[in-house]
Amino acid sequence: MNGMITRRAFMGGLAAASAAGLIAPFGALASEAVNELELLPSLRKVAETKGVYFGTAASPKVLSKDFAYRKAVSRECNLLVPENATKWAYLQPQRGKWDFTGADKLLSFAEENGIKMRGHTLLWYRGFPQWAEDDLKAGKGEALLEEHIHTVVSRYRGKFMSWDVVNEAIEPNDGLANGLRKSPWLAVFGPTYIDRAFQYAAEADPNCQLVYNDWGQESYGKRPEAILNLLRRLKDRGVPVHGVGIQAHLSTRWNFGPQQVTSFCRQVADMGLEVLITELDVSDAKLADDLVQRDEATAERMRIFLEAVSESVKPKQILTWGLSDRYSWLQESNSENPTGRAVRTLPLDRNYKRKAMWKVLHDYFRQLS
Ligand code: G3I
Repeated sequence: MNGMITRRAFMGGLAAASAAGLIAPFGALASEAVNELELLPSLRKVAETKGVYFGTAASPKVLSKDFAYRKAVSRECNLLVPENATKWAYLQPQRGKWDFTGADKLLSFAEENGIKMRGHTLLWYRGFPQWAEDDLKAGKGEALLEEHIHTVVSRYRGKFMSWDVVNEAIEPNDGLANGLRKSPWLAVFGPTYIDRAFQYAAEADPNCQLVYNDWGQESYGKRPEAILNLLRRLKDRGVPVHGVGIQAHLSTRWNFGPQQVTSFCRQVADMGLEVLITELDVSDAKLADDLVQRDEATAERMRIFLEAVSESVKPKQILTWGLSDRYSWLQESNSENPTGRAVRTLPLDRNYKRKAMWKVLHDYFRQLS
């Protein structure tokens, strides 16, 4: 993909910066080099000139308490998704007891800053309160699902440009037909629980982009094909699904297949569905402590991924799962961060300074035609 920073150019840049004494030993880019990135137009600015969206997952609590974070989000993002505030357990923690506080706060912030919103997620095997699972198992699932989705999607009708309607319904390791994930919903309804969720969402907001969201589309093995087959069945049944979210939680612990990514995106596009990149981040697990090397390795992993996507589609919505290393879900992840060191998995560092990964995103948006 022309215009993207190549590895050679990137390394050359680092070498030049190092020769010029801009890179402090054992540390991140020296202040002068970092300042160079600070002078560039924001991701939001570049994305807006191309008519696309760059965003991140956000928490109302963090936005309200951290001014620097709020400033960074409004500078860099023209799209937001609640990290947790629009999950079932947050919106309806008890039967009939609705709590839209967090989601409404995020929406107010977004509207005040000219930022769009998307929702995550109406139906997931996690983040689902016990009372709802009890009702489901007691045979009240149909009314439960219809009421939840109708209530939530109607509230944000015309305000959320897209919704992750169903999240992570595929799990080949569960050994079920079609690689479906074992869940209370599948047990009660069979596979058509997915159809129902999309139909209820479409009834509540006919103009909203309805997305199936999952992870592992870039991986080897059965997961990508199982996701594609699910999508084909949904399309064949006339289910109102419009897009596919590739979470893209990448990691330096394992490789992914760029060709796999390109092929998956092309097959999604061939079905007439849009590709969204919904939760992009790059775990720096297992890398040595040197900050520059970690930043270069994670940036390169992201560059390869975006280049592979771009070989077949140009997603209109690209979101990272967090904007600053100060608030990454991976900080608490035992598998991805066994030593508990400060992770470096997102475009901005803990002090909201732009990193090599930020530059990769900047170059990606800039090269869009
Ligand atoms: O806010 C409470 C806090 O008051 C309490 O003291 C603490 C004790 O455990 O829990 C806090 O809530 C946690 C919440 O994150 C906010 O930090 C929940 O326990 C914890 O389960 C929740 O984890 C979220 C996870 O999804 C499960 O919902 C992560 O923040 C969130 O980043 C993660 O995001 C998921 C996507 O939804 C789907 N794709 C994978 C992605 C990463 O796992």
